[in-house]
Parts: sequence; structure tokens; C-alpha cells
Amino acid sequence: MMESTQKKDIYILAIESSCDETAASVVKNGREVLSNIISSQIDLHTLYGGVVPEIASRKHIEKINQVIEQALEQAGMTLKEVDAIAVTYGPGLVGALLVGVSAAKALAFAAQKPLIGVHHIEGHISANFIENKELEPPFVCLVVSGGHSHLVVVKDYGEYEIIGRTRDDAAGEAFDKVARAIGLGYPGGPKIDKLSKEGNPDAIHFPRAKVEDNAYDFSFSGLKSAVLNYLNSCQMKGETVNRADVAASFQKAVIDVLVEHGIHAVQQYGLNKFAIAGGVASNSSLRAAFEKECTKRNIAFYHPSPIFCTDNAAMIGVAGYYEYLKGVRHGYDLNAVPNLRLGERI
Ligand code: KG4
Ligand code: ZN
Repeated sequence: MMESTQKKDIYILAIESSCDETAASVVKNGREVLSNIISSQIDLHTLYGGVVPEIASRKHIEKINQVIEQALEQAGMTLKEVDAIAVTYGPGLVGALLVGVSAAKALAFAAQKPLIGVHHIEGHISANFIENKELEPPFVCLVVSGGHSHLVVVKDYGEYEIIGRTRDDAAGEAFDKVARAIGLGYPGGPKIDKLSKEGNPDAIHFPRAKVEDNAYDFSFSGLKSAVLNYLNSCQMKGETVNRADVAASFQKAVIDVLVEHGIHAVQQYGLNKFAIAGGVASNSSLRAAFEKECTKRNIAFYHPSPIFCTDNAAMIGVAGYYEYLKGVRHGYDLNAVPNLRLGERI
């Protein structure tokens, strides 16, 4: 008798390969991560100072089956037992995306399971649901990664309104470029985060860009140029550069803008919940700054653990679960869409 009223558990096998991480995960009921396998290619790409698309695709092909097998094994499940297969189909590097999409299609066909294509950014946003069991839309989310800087109103599961975006470089891209300029190597974000702790964030005043016609848009290329100009002028004057001060002052300039825009948005939209997502969201000073400003204004602040901020498949499993509930199903003609827009369904 009891069983008829109990909801069936839903298990999603998720696959992510949009950039330089080959990842697979099993997620139960959209909020419980049973496995989260990530094979990172960072060491390979460090040699070249950034992600080399061709190398990324080849490495994904080598790793994907192994990563999927491990994800199932760690979750104690077989392919037969999962309810659906979710996969990132955009945006990202086309060759890299294709590896995950092809693997997902093959598995869905072989096991006769529903196939669900997931937007990568939707995944990043959904990472917040993993550890914050009480979090429900609506809320405002700042997505800051190597390829994206979006300010998004999450109206409901799978329903988004992008209110701000970068006009040029993504936040993570600015971190990576400045890190390279001060000789820290790739990926720059975590290195700047660490070095900043030894520097003075007020040592050098770098610009905080305002975008004329949209208060929520970002621009980071002027800041990046200002850092490069500062480094050049020090070199010309024969002055030694305090790298920790440069890192801390640059980081403060990025954070000031992100916090100002984020708080402004959550207040203007009359919401009291704010979340951050994406690789840059693992930045310790960024988290501390949002924590402080949100607490001051009685806004609940949410962020995923660092492992769920950078690329992973668990976040794709979470987003895939809510798509599954909505009845979203893709056919075997699902393709990689490198410039897929948030909210767009193909
Ligand atoms: O989300 P992600 O793994 O990949 C994309 O979808 O782009 O983000 C990677 C980006 C890189 O630019 C990296 O430098 C940045 O996130 N990042 C950080 C930190 N950890 C990673 N940026 C600032 N502080 C960090 N601690
Ligand atoms: Zn990402």
C-alpha cells in the first residue's frame, strides 16, 4: 500500500566534456551526488599556456569510456538501472563536446534510455542545488567561468533571464591573462587567488569598468590592459614589480564590479537569494566579499564547493534531472552546439 504513494527514485547518468575536463557522474533525485569522476587535462594544456582544442578532443576520446565506467561503479549502479542519460551539448569547444554527445547517444541507444541534452551554464547554476538542499528558484545567480560572465535571474527550474553579460573577456579569462602577464602560468585563477593573500589589494588602483547602456553588463578587457600597461611602465622605469600587490589589486577590481552588479540585481528584482557559480566562484576573496555584502542586507548567499564550481558532470546531472521532470527528451540527432544560448532549446 505504502509503495503506491512513494515516488520512484530517479537516477541520471551525466556526461560533461565541453572544455578540458572529461567527467561523468550519477545523481539521484537531482540533489544527491552518488559519484563525481573528473579527469582533468590541466597538466597537458599548461605546457601551452591554455586549452588546445585538438588536444582536448583527443584526450576526451581516450578517457571518456573509463570515466563513465568509474562513475557507474562508484555509484554502485549498472547502465540498466539509470533512468536517463544527460550530456552537455553546448556551449563549448565543438570537438570536445562531440565526444561526450557521441558517447551519451551511443549509451542511450544501446540501453534504450532517454537522452537529455543540457546547457553547460545551466549545469553551473544547478551546482548550487547539490549542497543547498533548501535552495529553490527564484534567485539571482552570477555565473563566472573561463568562458562566461553572466548575471542571470533564475525564475524557475530551467527558466532563465540573462540580465547582464560580459561585453568582451570573461572574468576567468581576465584572471588567466593577467596571471600569464605576471608569470604565474595556466590556469591563472587559483594562482592569483593564492598569491593575492600576500599582497595589498589597495596598492594599485585599477579601473572598475561601467558599461553605459546596461548597468548589469561587464567589461574586463580595459582592466586587463590597465594591468599590462602598469607592468610595462614599471619595466620601462626599471622598477621591480610586486606581483602579489598586482594580483591582489587586480582581483579586488574584478570582485568590486561583480559584487556591485550582483547586489544591485538581487535588490532591483526584489529577490532575497543570491548564488554564484562557475570556476571563478571558487575564488576565496570573491566568496568572502559576497558573504559580507549579502549578510549586511539580509540576502541569503549560496555557493557550491570548489569541486562543483569548476567543470564537473554532477552539475549536468542536476540540471538534467529537472529537464527530465519537464519531459525534455532529445533524439539521436542531438548535435554539439558550440555557441548554444542559455534558455535556447535545440
Ligand atoms: O567553470 P570552469 O572550470 O570552466 C569554464 O566553463 O570556463 O572555469 C575555469 C575558469 C578558469 O579561467 C580559471 O582560472 C578560473 O575558472 N578559476 C578561478 C579560480 N579557480 C578557477 N578564478 C579565480 N579564482 C579561483 N580560485
Ligand atoms: Zn564551465
